[in-house]
Parts: sequence; C-alpha cells; structure tokens
Amino acid sequence: MTRRIDIVEVGPRDGLQNDPSDLTTSQKLEFIERLAECGVRRMEAGSFVSPKAVPKMADSDAVFAGVDRKTGVRHIALAMNETGVRRAIEAEADEINFVLVAGEGFGRRNQGMSPQESADKLAACAPIVHEANIPLSATIAVAFGDPFDGDIRDGVVGGLAAQAQRAGVSEVGIADTIGVADPWVVRTRIEEVRMYAPDVYLRAHFHDTRGTGLANVFAAIEAEVDTIDASCGGIGGCPFAPGATGNVATEDVVYMLERAGFETGVDLSKLISVSKWLESVLGHSVPSALLKAGSFPSA
Ligand code: COA
Ligand code: ZN
Repeated sequence: MTRRIDIVEVGPRDGLQNDPSDLTTSQKLEFIERLAECGVRRMEAGSFVSPKAVPKMADSDAVFAGVDRKTGVRHIALAMNETGVRRAIEAEADEINFVLVAGEGFGRRNQGMSPQESADKLAACAPIVHEANIPLSATIAVAFGDPFDGDIRDGVVGGLAAQAQRAGVSEVGIADTIGVADPWVVRTRIEEVRMYAPDVYLRAHFHDTRGTGLANVFAAIEAEVDTIDASCGGIGGCPFAPGATGNVATEDVVYMLERAGFETGVDLSKLISVSKWLESVLGHSVPSALLKAGSFPSA
C-alpha cells in the first residue's frame, strides 16, 4: 500500500508573517483558495497574536471570516495565550495550533515566556479549546536550537511534549524555527518525543536556512512521521529570529515524496502555478527549486 504523507501548508501564516510584502486580506484569501484547489487539506490560515508584535497577521480575524468553509480544508489558527485562543474560537478556526518554546532567549523575545511558562500557558488554554470542541495541536518552536541561547538540551523538547500530551493535545509539531537541525538530530529528537509523549501524533516543521531542509524532511519520514509542514514557494520565517528564512517549499517536498512513491494528495503542477502566482503578488522571487526547474518527468 502507498504510504500517505499529509502536508500542512503554512504559507499563509509562517510564510506571510515575515515577508517584506504586504498582502491585502483579499489577496491572502486568494492564496488560501488557490492552495485549497491544489488539494491541500490542512492549512495555517492566520495567527491570533498581538497585532503590534506581528502586524502582518493583524487581519487574521478578517481572513478567517472570509475563508470558504465548503472546501473541506481545515483552517488552522496559531495562538499562544488565552486572548489568542479566544479570538481563534470566535473566528471559528477549525484547529488551534499552540506555540510552545524550547529556548529561553527566543521564548522571551517571541512570546514573553520561558519554555516552562509556555507549557503552563498551554495547560491554562487547553480547557478553553476543549470546551469549544476544537482540535488542539502544539508546535514546539526552536526545538533544535535557539538563536540567542544555542543548542537545546536533551529532554527539554520531550518534557514539553509530555506536558502537551497531559493537556490533551493530539499532535505535536517539532519546529526548526531557525534552520539549524541536521537529519541525524531530527531522528534523535523524534525518538525523544516518542519516549516522553507516546500518545501524540508527530508533525515536523523545517526551515531551509542552512540547506538541510529537505534532508531533515527525509529523516522525519524515515522516522515514521506522517505529517510535514511546508510553505508554498518556500517563503517564511519568524520576525523574532534574526536572519530567519523560509520553510521548506511545499512543491519541493511534494515533488520529493511523490517521486519516491508516497501519496500527498497535492497536485504538483497546480502548486507550481500557485508558487508562480505568489511571486507576482509578493513582488519578489521565492526560494522554491521546483518553480525554477519544473517537475520531472514533464507532464
Ligand atoms: N491578540 C491580540 N492582542 C493581544 C493578544 C492576542 N493574542 N495577547 C495580548 N494582546 C495585547 C494585550 O491586549 C495588550 O495590549 P495593550 O498593550 O494594547 O494593552 C498587549 O498585547 C500586551 O498584553 P500581554 O498579555 O502583556 O501580552 P505580552 O506582551 O506578554 O505578549 C504575546 C504576548 C504572545 C501576545 C506577544 O508576545 C505576541 O503577540 N507575540 C507574537 C509571537 C509570534 O507570533 N511569533 C511568530 C510565530 S511563532
Ligand atoms: Zn516556522
């Protein structure tokens, strides 16, 4: 049987939150709609954080109000405190993705929290989400390295995942926010999370800042992770991480996986067209390899 890998498209959130362009709400909605037409079934559509901290996500309420609810796409909202969770529920997010943080330096600057404070915040927010009957996932930011504090000690990511599991989170994403992981440490971290939090599903989130993005995806797939975050065009990055660059490009990930015989449910040629369209609305080129080279064999 063909192994299915689910792609979570993060372009409309991770992708746009730090992009120099300033898309209008209707351009964001068009982006989301075009991605849905490619067969994407889970997508981060916005983030309910302070509009002062992340101005590019300030219209997330309007984005969620405008998304087409009939496409079958699960629109995910990012949140990291009670206000954000309540706003996401109000906006009728289909899923809430809560941000935990593995490093103190980044945690303070990004969300004003230490790693333990982010876990405590999740414990306080989870009942609100459960009460609203919305699926709750969590992503552990800087799980492979903090731009201010360096390496993350063994056990920190696992400990956070265990607390997420106790809070009733069904899926934990491990995020290489600043693109410092290598494929071998990816396997080690995944094994660590499985040991500490055996009941959660795993998702992996990589940025291709140092050229290891796709190798890290490979390592996660080999370690039997079935859900991968990726961003159309390979845009993205965190405003609170100096020098941060984009996520692995969705089309590059889909190409690699489908070529190897995995099934993603995403139409690669349509996705490449969206990436091309994206360049035109962003007004700059995107890092995607498939957009430059095209697929193979050609259709
Ligand atoms: N949505 C909108 N506004 C919010 C908010 C939310 N989820 N949470 C807090 N605020 C507002 C408060 O109302 C308050 O506004 P005021 O200054 O006008 O009174 C202000 O933000 C400070 O509130 P406070 O509760 O003290 O929060 P904080 O200053 O500790 O900030 C975060 C916490 C998480 C809201 C903030 O650090 C943030 O938005 N970070 C963004 C991180 C991010 O998105 N990174 C990229 C993705 S990982
Ligand atoms: Zn990211």
